[in-house]
Amino acid sequence: MKISYRDLSVTDIQMRNELLGAVENVLRHGRISLGPELVAFEEHIARLCKKKYAVGVSSGTDALYLSLKSLGVGPGDEVITTPLSWIATVNAIVLCGATPVFVDIGEDLNINADIIKDAVTDKTKAILPVHFTGRLCDMDTIMEIAGANNLYVVEDAAQAFGASRNGEVAGSMGHINCFSMNPMKIYCAYGEAGCIVTDDEKLYHDLISLRYAGTINKEDCHVPSLNGRLDTIQAAMMLVGFKYLSQKQERLQEIADFFTNCLKDIVTCPEPDGSSHAFYTYTIITPQRDELQAYLNNRDIETKIQHPLLMPHHSAYKNQFSKIKLPVANRLVKQILCIPNHEKLQQKELEYIVKTIKDFYKL
Ligand SMILES: Cc1ncc(COP(=O)(O)O)c(C=O)c1O
Repeated sequence: MKISYRDLSVTDIQMRNELLGAVENVLRHGRISLGPELVAFEEHIARLCKKKYAVGVSSGTDALYLSLKSLGVGPGDEVITTPLSWIATVNAIVLCGATPVFVDIGEDLNINADIIKDAVTDKTKAILPVHFTGRLCDMDTIMEIAGANNLYVVEDAAQAFGASRNGEVAGSMGHINCFSMNPMKIYCAYGEAGCIVTDDEKLYHDLISLRYAGTINKEDCHVPSLNGRLDTIQAAMMLVGFKYLSQKQERLQEIADFFTNCLKDIVTCPEPDGSSHAFYTYTIITPQRDELQAYLNNRDIETKIQHPLLMPHHSAYKNQFSKIKLPVANRLVKQILCIPNHEKLQQKELEYIVKTIKDFYKL
């Protein structure tokens, strides 16, 4: 039995036909850029997030970069963030010319909101929390600190589409909120895609301009920017994806419940914290991470370490950030392991994963 970490093929015939039909429609009407499906997609996302505006963009990286730009984040500004995320998070800050300030994580792998206030200086412009693995950060505390210090909050909800706490969904709690919809994500496109949501009308208009070369009326450039438009075809396919999303989310929850039930006494599993976790990844924590990963790999179970490097330790950044102290992140980054959790996994495959982990621990 070979178990892949993800399976991105579309095996549901009805869904495949609907996806192909959606592409066909776009090819027929020919509004390949900024077409009607993009508008429908944006309206749908805005509704889901209970926000006034959504702006489709070409990736989660663009979503972060353009959001920071729209807030005027630039040279001389500091942006507080977590050290544990995909590198896009810090790249977006640095590409704006600002300085990232890393605050250590907690045992839940998210930024430790209780120590953010110690990192606030008179240069701080924004806080950029990441709902890592699909589990929500402590947004109440983060918004409180932001309010008290007049800071913006840019939510990186790239991994957390569908996560919620007390009726508030990921991507609805910051001043400006970012999603990635790349093919690995729970709610995904069939290529690169992302989205930004906000209630702020000025930011919305700025984002519309920033995603298309900083132009007004698609012609006159008033601020240099990139081309970050989301293709109509991707939006059309994602509109189809909405119909199939809840069954995927339910299956991810079932898989997570099964793993937690079977593994919680053996390794550290994502602990329930009163929020609904999106389970972008099912990440276990164990001091024998490398040995366990090799053992699973030798038995045809593909796993991933997301991520093996903290952001400040990537080659591009390590000289600049060699002195920062991140004791919890430094410990946990050596212990995290993502086991397969995609919706196509069969019960016998889940049982094989659990049995193999138990065998490793000689249980
Ligand atoms: C937390 C986080 N932020 C940002 C991104 C960037 O998104 P994209 O790959 O769509 O550019 C990702 C993508 O994996 C991510 O996981």
